[in-house]
Amino acid sequence: MRKRIPLLIGLLSLLTLVGGRLAWADDDDDEHEWSRPRVSTRVPMLPAYQQECAACHMAYPPGMLPAASWQSIMTGLPKHYGSDASLDVASVKKLTTWLTTNAAPNRSMSNRPPQDRITQSAWFVRQHDEISASVWKRPAIKSAANCMACHAGAEQGDFNEHRVRIPR
Ligand code: HEC
Ligand code: HEC
Repeated sequence: MRKRIPLLIGLLSLLTLVGGRLAWADDDDDEHEWSRPRVSTRVPMLPAYQQECAACHMAYPPGMLPAASWQSIMTGLPKHYGSDASLDVASVKKLTTWLTTNAAPNRSMSNRPPQDRITQSAWFVRQHDEISASVWKRPAIKSAANCMACHAGAEQGDFNEHRVRIPR
């Protein structure tokens, strides 16, 4: 009996190791890796949201900001990052409900980022830390908020790092 215990422990650690490897191997689509933002980017878009909020930039996935940020953005539309993005009361109400319902679900993203910007969120800064200031300013990019410049599938919710292309 005494001899079997170390053997058992050995076997268990081997299993854990193999299990870990397998988890890594099928992690290509990545939503589960601890270091990655757990953003759900595949919530079906509300047509009214795309109609009203994708004229000047893409319709950002609601899961990329906490509810409090969406709330604040929706109450400040007349002074929206230097633009007037005003909407009628009914639309504001409808979009606010949808955005806050589908907002960032997990605790690591529940803090409001500076200026309620996705691009100022801790996870965003971490994911993009290898991009230098001069790259963000390239004419084909202009702004970090211009996701589609590098993530061609952004509007379909595809931000996979394997399909990123930084324009020259
Ligand atoms: C009239 C143009 C216009 C409309 C309409 C508009 N926006 Fe914006 N939005 C802007 C501008 C300009 C910025 C700043 C972009 C930048 O910094 O490059 C911005 C930035 C944002 C950001 C922050 C992006 C970042 O830096 O992370 C969010 C979130 C956002 N808008 C949400 C919305 C929502 C929600 C609506 C619809 C209710 C909306 N916008 C409609 C012009 C607009
Ligand atoms: C200048 C190009 C560029 C722009 C603009 C950009 N990104 Fe990225 N993004 C990247 C690169 C490069 C990576 C991959 C980092 C890496 O290899 O780990 C990345 C990674 C990501 C990831 C993680 C993907 C994964 O597979 O782990 C997310 C999510 C993301 N970006 C969201 C956004 C959003 C949202 C915007 C717009 C608000 C944006 N990005 C704008 C270049 C860009």
